[in-house]
Amino acid sequence: MELRRVEDYDAMSLLAARIVFDRIVNSERLVLGLATGSTPEAMYDHLAEMLNRDKVDLSHVYTVNLDEYVGLSEGHPQSYHHYMETMFFSKVDIPADHTFLPDGKAPDLEVEVERYELLIEELGGVDLQILGIGRNGHIGFNEPGTSFDSRTHVVNLAESTVKDNARFFDTVDEVPRQALTMGLHTIMNAKSILLLVSGDEKEEALECMIDCEVSEELPATILQTHPDVTIIADDEALE
Ligand code: F6R
Repeated sequence: MELRRVEDYDAMSLLAARIVFDRIVNSERLVLGLATGSTPEAMYDHLAEMLNRDKVDLSHVYTVNLDEYVGLSEGHPQSYHHYMETMFFSKVDIPADHTFLPDGKAPDLEVEVERYELLIEELGGVDLQILGIGRNGHIGFNEPGTSFDSRTHVVNLAESTVKDNARFFDTVDEVPRQALTMGLHTIMNAKSILLLVSGDEKEEALECMIDCEVSEELPATILQTHPDVTIIADDEALE
C-alpha cells in the first residue's frame, strides 16, 4: 500500500485526477471503476478539464460504477446515474455506450446484479478502481459484515450510511434503504485501486483501514491484502 499525504481536499483531487489522466493517455484500452459521493467530485472536475484541454480521445475508455440506489430512476437528481452524467460524462467526450452503472430500477434485482458482475468480467475486469470510504469503513456500499467473497449484490444500507447520505436529499426518509453494489471480491479483482480520503470525519475509518486486523466487520481492511493500492489522504484525514 502506498500512502500519499497531501495538504487538503483540492490537492487530493488534483493528484487523483493526474493519476487517472496519466493512465488514460498511456493505455491502449482502460476499464475505470468509478465512485460517487462528495469525495471524488473535484477530481472529476479536474479530470474533465485536463482531458478537454488536451483533447484526449476517450474511445478506448470504459467505465463501471461501484453502485446505485435501488428504486431511483436514471433521471432522479440523487441517482448515481444522474451524478455521473452531470459531474463527468456530460463534460467529456466518452461514448455513451462505454459507461455502465447498475440499474436500481431493474424489475428483478437478483438478475441485475448477476448481469452487472458478468458485464465487468466481459469488459476484462477493472484496471483502475477509484474508491471513497464511509465513516463505518464501507467501500462501495459494502457495509460492515459483508463477506469478502461477495460479488455484485443487493444491500440494505446501514442506518449510519442512510444518515450520512441524507445530506443529499430533502429529508432522511427520502434516502433509499437499499442499493446495488459491486462486492468486496469484485472490488479486490481490480488490478489497481486508488482510495481517496479527505476530512477529519474519515480519520478513524482510514486509521483502521491501514492498521486494524483484516476483518469483515471493517470492510475496507481487505484493501491491506491487495497488491496495488494507492491511498491519497489529506492532512485532516491523517491527523
Ligand atoms: C460511492 C461509494 C461510497 C462512498 C462513501 C464515501 O460510490 O461507493 O462507498 O465512496 O460512502 O462517501 P463520501 O465521498 O460522500 O464521503
